[in-house]
Amino acid sequence: MRVILAPMEGVLDHRMRQLLSELNPYDLCVTEFIRVVDQPVPDKVFYRLAPELLNGGKTRNGTPVRVQLLGQDPDWLADAANRASALGSPGVDINFGCPAKTVNRSRGGAVLLKEPELIYRIVKAMREAIPAEQVLSAKIRLGWECDSRTMEIAQAIESAGANELAIHARTKADGYRAEAINWPAIAPVAKALSIPVVANGEINSYADGQRCQLESGCQDLMIGRGALCRPNLAEMVKHDAQQLDWDAIRAVLSEYVTLEISGDKERYFPNRIKQWFGYLRQAYPEANEMFGELRRLKRSDEIIAHLNAA
Ligand SMILES: Cc1cc2nc3c(=O)[nH]c(=O)nc-3n(C[C@H](O)[C@H](O)[C@H](O)COP(=O)(O)O)c2cc1C
Repeated sequence: MRVILAPMEGVLDHRMRQLLSELNPYDLCVTEFIRVVDQPVPDKVFYRLAPELLNGGKTRNGTPVRVQLLGQDPDWLADAANRASALGSPGVDINFGCPAKTVNRSRGGAVLLKEPELIYRIVKAMREAIPAEQVLSAKIRLGWECDSRTMEIAQAIESAGANELAIHARTKADGYRAEAINWPAIAPVAKALSIPVVANGEINSYADGQRCQLESGCQDLMIGRGALCRPNLAEMVKHDAQQLDWDAIRAVLSEYVTLEISGDKERYFPNRIKQWFGYLRQAYPEANEMFGELRRLKRSDEIIAHLNAA
C-alpha cells in the first residue's frame, strides 16, 4: 500500500509537507497546482511552489514531491511538464479535478472532465514532453455532474500514456460533501485499467482506509484534509497507529511555528495557523477550545503567546 499526501492549494505548502512527511511514512507528496496559461512558466514559479526541487525533488527527509500542473492548453502544459521534469520533479501530475470557479472559467481543472478528448490530447502532449522513465500522473473527480463518464475519462488518460491515476471519489457537483463520497464508483475503473489507480476522498482513520481499499479495489490511497485534522493520519492508515495525543500535537505545533517564523512567510502565519486549527479542531477538542480565542488574534506574537499559554 502507498499513501500519498494530496495536493491542497493554499494549505499544503512546502513547510506543511516537511512537517507531515517527518511524522508519517508518506510515499509521495503532490504540490499545490501550478497554473499554466499561454506562456512558459518561469523557473521562479516552480521554485516558489516546489522549493523541494532544490533538494532533488524531495522533502528534507527524502519523501518525493511531484509538481502538479493545471491548465487547458496541451502545448503549454507539455512545455511546463518538460521544464518541471528538467528541474528535477519526480514525475509530473496534471489536475483535472479542481472545482474552483476562476479556474473553470479559464477551462482548467474539473471542467475538462466534460471534454475527455481534450484530456486525451493534454495527457498525450505531456507524455511526449517528458522522458519515458518519468511518471506522468493525473488526478480527476468522478465527473462533472455525474459519474457516467468516469470510465471514458480514465481510459482516455491511460491510452494517452499516463502511468498513474488518482480519483477523488466525488463529482464536481458533489463539492466536498462527506455523504457524497463514492469509493465503489472507482472499482470498475481500477479493474479495467492496467496502470495503478489511487483512491482519494474522506479517509480519516485506519478503518476508513481499509474500507476504501475494499470498496474501490485500490491498494494506494491519497489523503488531504484528514492529514491536517490528524497530523499522523498516514501512519494511522498504514500501520493502525493511535491518533497522536494533544501533547504530541503541541510539540508539532511548536515545530510548525518555528518553521513558519524562520521562513519568509511570517506575514502569512496568522492566517495559516488559523486555517490549520480549523482542521485540527475537528479531531481535537483542545484545538476547538483554543480556536475561539485564536481566530480573534491578528498578530503573530499574540498568537504564539496564546499557543504557549495553552
Ligand atoms: C483547500 C483545498 C485545496 C485543494 N487544492 C487542490 C490542488 O491544488 N490540486 C488538486 O488536484 N486537488 C486539490 N484539492 C483536492 C484534494 O487534493 C482532495 O482531492 C480532496 O480534498 C479530497 O480528499 P480528502 O477528502 O482527503 O480531503 C484541494 C482541496 C482542498 C479542500
